[in-house]
Amino acid sequence: MSRYDEIKIQLLNAPKTWLVTGVAGFIGSNLLEKLLKLNQKVVGLDNFATGHQHNLDEVKSLVTAEQWNDFTFIEGDIRNYQDCEQAVASVDYVLHQAALGSVPRSIADPLTTNAANITGFINMLQAAKEAQVKSFTYAASSSTYGDHPALPKVEDNIGNPLSPYAVTKYVNELYAGVYTRTYGFKTIGLRYFNVFGQRQDPNGAYAAVIPRWTADLINNQEVFINGDGETSRDFCFIENTVQMNILAATASDDAKDNVYNVAVGDRTTLNTLYNSIQDSLARNEIINKNLPTYRDFRIGDVRHSQADIAKAKRLLGYDPEFTIQQGIDKAMPWYIGFV
Ligand SMILES: NC(=O)c1ccc[n+]([C@@H]2O[C@H](COP(=O)([O-])OP(=O)(O)OC[C@H]3O[C@@H](n4cnc5c(N)ncnc54)[C@H](O)[C@@H]3O)[C@@H](O)[C@H]2O)c1
Repeated sequence: MSRYDEIKIQLLNAPKTWLVTGVAGFIGSNLLEKLLKLNQKVVGLDNFATGHQHNLDEVKSLVTAEQWNDFTFIEGDIRNYQDCEQAVASVDYVLHQAALGSVPRSIADPLTTNAANITGFINMLQAAKEAQVKSFTYAASSSTYGDHPALPKVEDNIGNPLSPYAVTKYVNELYAGVYTRTYGFKTIGLRYFNVFGQRQDPNGAYAAVIPRWTADLINNQEVFINGDGETSRDFCFIENTVQMNILAATASDDAKDNVYNVAVGDRTTLNTLYNSIQDSLARNEIINKNLPTYRDFRIGDVRHSQADIAKAKRLLGYDPEFTIQQGIDKAMPWYIGFV
C-alpha cells in the first residue's frame, strides 16, 4: 500500500482540522474537495482576489451535505494579521495556498503581488507559529529556479529569479527557513511546476496556458503560442498536487524544514501540448484542427523546466498517479462543461 493510501485511511479513522488559504481558487478548491471527501474538517480563507464563489459552489455539489457541514468559510485577507489569527485558531494542519500567481501580473503590478505573497505569507507563518499548529505546508514555485540552466531541476540548485513573482516565492522559502532556525517552527514548501486541472480559471489576462488554450479551442478562437513552441514545462495534474499536500502536512519531523518539487518528472513542449489538447478534445467530439499563431517570447519566462522528483519520492513517499495526458483527459469534460 502506498504511503498516500495509508495516510488517507488514517485520516478517515481520525479526522483532523485543516486550514486551506486560497480555498476559492484552483488548487485550494481541489484541496477542499479531497479533504471533505475524506471526512475532514476544513476552514477556508479567501478574499476572492482571483478565486470564485462558483468554485466553492461546485465543491458543495460534489460532497455530501454532512461533509459540506464540516466546512467553515472565512472571507478575509492574508494581508490582515487578524484574519490570519482567526483562520488558524484551533486547526491542526495549514495548507497555505493564497497568493497572487502569474509572472506577467507581477511584472505589471509588483507592489500588489509583493503585499499578498510576502506580507500575506509572513502573516500566515507568524499566526500559525503562534497557534502552534501541527504542520504548515505552503505553495512555493518552480519559478525559484530562475535562470539556473540545469535540467532536471534539483531542489538545492537555484539561479537568479526572473520576475517579481519569483522573488516573492523565494522570499517565502527564506522566511520559512528563518522560522525554523529562529523559532524551531518547521515547515514544508512545495515547489509546484505548472499545475493544471478542473477549476483552473480559463478567463482573464493571466490565465494559465492549458485552460486558456482549451477554452480558445472550444470557442474556435485564435490560439497564441509565445515563442517558437519549443519552450517546455513539467505539467502536473492537480490530483498529484493534492497528494503532495496531504503527504507534506502529515510528514514526520525529519521530512520538514524542506522544499520539494511537485511535478511528474517529465517535459512537454508547448507544440506537443497544443496537439495533446486538440486530440483530447477530439476524443470528446470537439474537432478543431486550427493551427496556432506564434508570437514573441514573453519576458520573465524560463525556457525549459523539468523537475527531479526523487526527493519527494524518497522523503514523503510521493507517487504521482497521473501523467500529463491522463490529466488532460480527466479535466477535459470539466472544461467542456464550464466554457
Ligand atoms: N497553478 C500553478 O501552476 C502554480 C504554480 C506554482 C505555484 N502556484 C502557487 O499555488 C498557489 C495557488 O495557486 P492557484 O493556481 O490555485 O491560483 P488561484 O489564483 O486560483 O488561487 C489563489 C487563491 O488565493 C486567493 N488570494 C489571493 N490573494 C489573497 C489575499 N490577499 N487574501 C486571501 N486570499 C487571497 C485568491 O482569491 C485565490 O482564490 C499560489 O500560491 C500560487 O502562487 C501555482
